[in-house]
Amino acid sequence: MKAIVIHEYGPPEVLRYEEVPDPVPRTGEIRIKVHAATVNRVLDVSLRAGRETYRGPVLPLIPGVDCAGIVDAVGPQVSRWRVGDRVAAAGTMPLELCAEDGRDYRGPEGMMGIKRPGGFAELVAVPACAGIAIPKNLDFHRAAVVMRHVPTAWNLLMHVAELKAGETVLIMGAGGNLGTVGIQIAKNVIGARVIAAAGSDERVALGQKLGADHGINYATHNIFEEVMRITGRKGVNVLYDNIANPAVLPLAFRTIGYLGRLVTAGAHGGPNVSIDFSHLYHKRITIKGMPGFTPADLPHCLAAAAEGKVVPQIERVLPLSRAIEAHRMVEKYEGQGKIVLDPTLG
Ligand SMILES: NC(=O)c1ccc[n+]([C@@H]2O[C@H](COP(=O)([O-])OP(=O)(O)OC[C@H]3O[C@@H](n4cnc5c(N)ncnc54)[C@H](OP(=O)(O)O)[C@@H]3O)[C@@H](O)[C@H]2O)c1
Repeated sequence: MKAIVIHEYGPPEVLRYEEVPDPVPRTGEIRIKVHAATVNRVLDVSLRAGRETYRGPVLPLIPGVDCAGIVDAVGPQVSRWRVGDRVAAAGTMPLELCAEDGRDYRGPEGMMGIKRPGGFAELVAVPACAGIAIPKNLDFHRAAVVMRHVPTAWNLLMHVAELKAGETVLIMGAGGNLGTVGIQIAKNVIGARVIAAAGSDERVALGQKLGADHGINYATHNIFEEVMRITGRKGVNVLYDNIANPAVLPLAFRTIGYLGRLVTAGAHGGPNVSIDFSHLYHKRITIKGMPGFTPADLPHCLAAAAEGKVVPQIERVLPLSRAIEAHRMVEKYEGQGKIVLDPTLG
């Protein structure tokens, strides 16, 4: 099969599109014919550049931390999946053999595309327990993007922030991946009032197009003054950040109202930010970091996407052979949605 392989860290050109042996699904595993895998700022671009070695990737590596496609072979002791089933997989999963439902597995775990071969390939074998069925009316490209971003946003808003209908949430980086899905979960699934904030008019407009009730451009306006005006000086119940922009987060933090919550799963704009501790204790604020997701949410996330409640944003779909170009695009921060690689396009 064809795959992208990283033999050494460096610029996008280290990504090699080459012929490698087809993976053979082991006991309890399925093999997926990949139709989509997302390209990510940290877990692909930064990893390829050699900035994520603390995550323990082992070279040579087939990257790609998610995938969506069709089951094309099943290993021994797999009865829940059939060849032809539509399936997605992402993130952390068992690294050693395990039962098809993952029961009693106590061995090491790690992310596909970092600790085990990933989705930048025509075929990938994953533990059957890591697979999740894709609803009929959701295409593979969107399913892969859902897997990458929606469960994290869902977990942050539903379980970590415990955002309620009628509460107000301030979404930072509103035009980004976690931002765009966060807006839609908050508005269309939870029923909250949403303020979309971003660093350009275009990205603010996208947030409002996706359902946000208010928009703020924090590159041209003082986010604190704007949120205070919008909320009648009460502030917001939840600040959903994921960026840690040192120029904006200190002001945004002061918009959090009484018993407010700040939640985050990312810090690529920082990570170091100064915050006002007197505001933290006077307002009895909770700050919680929570990367990853709750596995039980996955079917709900895919169903919300299939029902059109959460529409993941896709900027471009490229053939796998153009992974170098995809990395360059993400590196240059072009566009407003996800870059997806589709190995069936070449
Ligand atoms: N499973 C997980 O835990 C999980 C899942 C997905 C993502 N993440 C993490 O969450 C973070 C956000 O991911 P994402 O995919 O939503 O990011 P993204 O779409 O690439 O970027 C989000 C926003 O960040 C701002 N931004 C981009 N580069 C910046 C820079 N150098 N300095 C300051 N701001 C910058 C931009 O907004 P403005 O310019 O409009 O401010 C952009 O729209 C990342 O750190 C990612 O690693 C974690």
